[in-house]
Amino acid sequence: MTQGRPLLNRRLAEFGTTIFAEMSALAARTGSINLGQGFPDTDGPESVREAAVRALRDGRGNQYPPGPGVPELRTAVAAHQQRFHGLTFDPDTEVLVTAGATEAIAATMLALLEPGDEVIAFEPYYDSYAAAIAMAGGARVPLLLRAPDFRPDLTALRDAVTDRTRLLLLNSPHNPTGMVLTREELAAIAELAVERDLIVVTDEVYEHLVFDGEHIPLVSLPGMRERTVSISSAGKSFSFTGWKVGWVTAAAPLVTAVRSAKQYLTFVSAGPFQYAVAEALRLPDSYFTGFRDDLRAKRDLLAGGLAEAGFEVYSPQGTYFVTTDVAALGEKDALAFCRALPGRCGVVAVPNSVFYDDPEAGRSQVRFAFCKRESVLRDAVERLGQL
Ligand SMILES: Cc1ncc(COP(=O)(O)O)c(C=O)c1O
Repeated sequence: MTQGRPLLNRRLAEFGTTIFAEMSALAARTGSINLGQGFPDTDGPESVREAAVRALRDGRGNQYPPGPGVPELRTAVAAHQQRFHGLTFDPDTEVLVTAGATEAIAATMLALLEPGDEVIAFEPYYDSYAAAIAMAGGARVPLLLRAPDFRPDLTALRDAVTDRTRLLLLNSPHNPTGMVLTREELAAIAELAVERDLIVVTDEVYEHLVFDGEHIPLVSLPGMRERTVSISSAGKSFSFTGWKVGWVTAAAPLVTAVRSAKQYLTFVSAGPFQYAVAEALRLPDSYFTGFRDDLRAKRDLLAGGLAEAGFEVYSPQGTYFVTTDVAALGEKDALAFCRALPGRCGVVAVPNSVFYDDPEAGRSQVRFAFCKRESVLRDAVERLGQL
């Protein structure tokens, strides 16, 4: 407190330390297997790592790169959108490189929201959404995804739109539930967005991790090219979460707006890594299918083990997380369960309640990450089997 008021401003007062910090510290303290935070325990392709080393040594990106990102990466992002989704973006005006998807989300909210504007987002949500909306002075309007399949209620979505709604903030494949939007759902969302003249922000960081079904970018649907801000990142697709290289693709006026906010957040970031990510995006198709197939097998391994240990398992269609319900184990409170789990069997997970506005909604849900080595997952499954 100073001058009789709290230090943290009231927009951020509700956001304490993230659960990931608490649980990762707990994992370190207890020597547990950390299936809490979503980071791989193996680095991405060696050729990509070498590309970063080369860029550093050759002095590429060691000084401020251009504000929108290095041309090599913007070109590679546009080529990747064309190769995988048949989408055409102008690398000069329709691509913006950011400090991970997290900065892209924050910059988009800061750029597009006026105080009081409403943002509809799926609940549970990735935790930075609520904070980014709050920092921009917006009001979040949750759209609850219900177990067991976590499909969005499209009638409820339509009813949630008001005259104050400015944005829909979507995430597919969806963290933490693993839900992947279908073409029919995307078509209904697109129709609503066009009808109500809304901008849609899509977080597609797990675009290459779809095990059942396919990833369809919303921007590819009729009427969406001019009103969609698509966000992705190298962290999840290439297993370099520490590099924090992300990007926005959108129509030029939207990219210009987001860039206006981004330039005063970080201006630029991760110079040499941008060159390496440009190479990563050009990896052959076999890399992407191999990565997906590997994680599909890991999903099956962990989901099977959890089910055998007595958890109710909601098998994810995509991402590298599996949501479970511990009510089946006679547990009511996921937070208490997760705090006790390292002591009980040496495994760390996170309670989904932190991803909900209404903690009751996800009270007994627990999320496990399976982006770990097979031996680690086997060990975790054995430990969980002792419960
Ligand atoms: C849905 C979602 N969006 C964004 C991010 C963050 O991406 P980045 O590390 O590129 O900022 C994550 C990371 O867990 C995520 O799950």
